[in-house]
Amino acid sequence: MKILVTGGLGFIGSHVVVKLQEQGFDVVIIDNLSNSDIKVLDGIIAITGITPEFEQLDLREKPAVSDFFKKHSDVRGVIHFAASKAVGESVENPLLYYENNIGTLVYILQELQKKEQACFIFSSSCTVYGQADQMPITESAAIKKAESPYGNTKQIGEEIIQDTCRVNPNIKATALRYFNPIGSHESALIGELPIGVPQNLVPFITQTATGQRAELSVFGDDYPTPDGTAIRDYIHVVDLAEAHVAALKRLLANQQATNFDFYNVGTGKGSSVLEVITAFETVTKKKLNYKIVDKREGDVIQAYADTTKVNNVLGWKAKYSLEEALFSAWKWEQKQL
Ligand code: UD1
Repeated sequence: MKILVTGGLGFIGSHVVVKLQEQGFDVVIIDNLSNSDIKVLDGIIAITGITPEFEQLDLREKPAVSDFFKKHSDVRGVIHFAASKAVGESVENPLLYYENNIGTLVYILQELQKKEQACFIFSSSCTVYGQADQMPITESAAIKKAESPYGNTKQIGEEIIQDTCRVNPNIKATALRYFNPIGSHESALIGELPIGVPQNLVPFITQTATGQRAELSVFGDDYPTPDGTAIRDYIHVVDLAEAHVAALKRLLANQQATNFDFYNVGTGKGSSVLEVITAFETVTKKKLNYKIVDKREGDVIQAYADTTKVNNVLGWKAKYSLEEALFSAWKWEQKQL
């Protein structure tokens, strides 16, 4: 059975391609290499021994998207990662985000509309909740006004899919609302490859530990949390990849009662920035150079998942600890030197 993975050479996409191939799916990847490296394909092949089909294509080119679906008419499911994800950049250049994240989603759904049956998995984010009123966050928490165009594209994206599925029962879709994905494949053959200065905590930590960055800035220590630093739910990317396969299998088996559904994907455990630093120092036996600086604009105080729905309905549960995820990220970073 052939599955299209858009953005399949990116951080999460590449780990999902590996899991899909390991479980016997045929994979075709679309990636425009705007935020990924063609070498990731070698990593996927080295891990799985299987060469996925690959089309270098920009999903903003509507005719090319149409041609792709004509050529690959046997695609039965789509896992859609291809999107821009830098919050700050989205504030500076909102139209890039609306075109990249919304325009391309519309083009893909227009193609799926034409199919007899199609499954669609959408890469969503806990950012749709903003600062939720209650922890842990359940799927029934209110969707607050997005803090950034990036966050808005995830909210609008889910709405577009829901509206589309309502009138196209041939499309069954699931949105996975990720908490904070970190780590890398145990082989360290694929991992997170931020371009330029990392914006996210864990790649910044690993690059500080290798000496590529002089110092880690901890954004704020006067949050109303036990140690004053912000709390997130860090999930190992390999666990996250498994969640995609579980969601896809449920859709393919026609087990999802509604045409559209959504799940939180996290570990259920919140960790503060200082706890992450301590855990990193413990597993790597490296001292991190860090200092407390002002809060980063737009950051929420805390966000961690209630995972009851994903545990019970998808039968998926995170297996890896924060320490294991951090160690894998460290192993990967050292290989990049
Ligand atoms: C961010 C986005 C989120 C997006 C995700 C995608 C914001 C507000 N949120 O999540 O919408 O889905 O990235 O990758 O940007 N931190 C530091 N120092 C650093 C970097 C981060 O102290 O150098 C802190 C942050 O303040 C935060 C935590 O570490 O408390 C995690 O930050 P990060 O990894 O950037 O993820 P989010 O901000 O949670």
